[in-house]
Amino acid sequence: MSPDRNRLHMAIQKSGRLSDQSRQLLRDAGLKLSEAGKNHLTARVNNFPLDLMFVRDDDIPTFVADGVCELGIVGRNVLEEYALGQPAHRFEEVARLGFGSCSLKIAAPESFDFSALSMLAGERIATSYPRLLGRFLEQRGIRADIVTMRGAVELAPRLGIARFICDLVSTGATLEANGLAPVVDVFDSEAVLVRSMKPIDAAHAEKVQALLMRIEGVIATAESKYIVLNAPEAAIPAISAILPGAEAPTIVPLVGRPGHFAVQAVCQESVFWETLERLKAAGASAILVMPIEKMML
Ligand code: PRP
Ligand code: ZN
Repeated sequence: MSPDRNRLHMAIQKSGRLSDQSRQLLRDAGLKLSEAGKNHLTARVNNFPLDLMFVRDDDIPTFVADGVCELGIVGRNVLEEYALGQPAHRFEEVARLGFGSCSLKIAAPESFDFSALSMLAGERIATSYPRLLGRFLEQRGIRADIVTMRGAVELAPRLGIARFICDLVSTGATLEANGLAPVVDVFDSEAVLVRSMKPIDAAHAEKVQALLMRIEGVIATAESKYIVLNAPEAAIPAISAILPGAEAPTIVPLVGRPGHFAVQAVCQESVFWETLERLKAAGASAILVMPIEKMML
């Protein structure tokens, strides 16, 4: 069955670290996913011309580069590993999604007394990311023997395949369970939205644009807060400077309190207790911080 060219296609991870949050992001963008069973490889979005394809994360760059899917959600680690092997690839990263942070790390048995990168010289390192690891070592002038494995990399030291491994670490539980400890950071990663650079017709491009705008709205909303506070006129410049990531706050006179104003602003960066304390010290009172439900920039 060839894909319906009137609909967009997005590749997301079928099962794994990114799959739940990828689906949640799409739901937050107002998309109604037809609840396919766990074994379905595709799902239709009922209220937007979009079909989802559930695939292995390692296959997502290929799907997007080939234009089979106009969009994909994948870890930057997977994307970069693919890109290093296909310099002429046709996709581009369009947004960081704010979830799935993890880091590609070299790890050694806990008992190994690691103190310098040079200790890797001449050693064997097992990994599923041979290109990322290869680039890292090359940039530092270290010659080591990279052993490529497709999975269960953390078993390599115990099986005597390699003394070191280089694998993705999120909570660190997998390393710990296998008696390994991280020794070097190779590459920091997170989930990103990627789009194909294969040419598409105007109608299709418009759908991509509409979807991107919604997703960008969701990402912006997650961090953004609406702040309202009262302040005397003289304090307003100092207060405006403290408001994190706010442009041009709205200033409204307070009835019955000459010289006092209500300041309202959308803050596009995290608002911490410390921020509120600084606002108060600068003269603000009655400070309210409210979540923003939807936003279109
Ligand atoms: C990575 C890695 C470990 C696990 C580490 O696998 O290979 O198995 O995550 O996570 P932890 O530090 O929280 O224990 P990934 O999710 O990329 O699965 P995949 O290799 O099967 O795609
Ligand atoms: Zn994978």
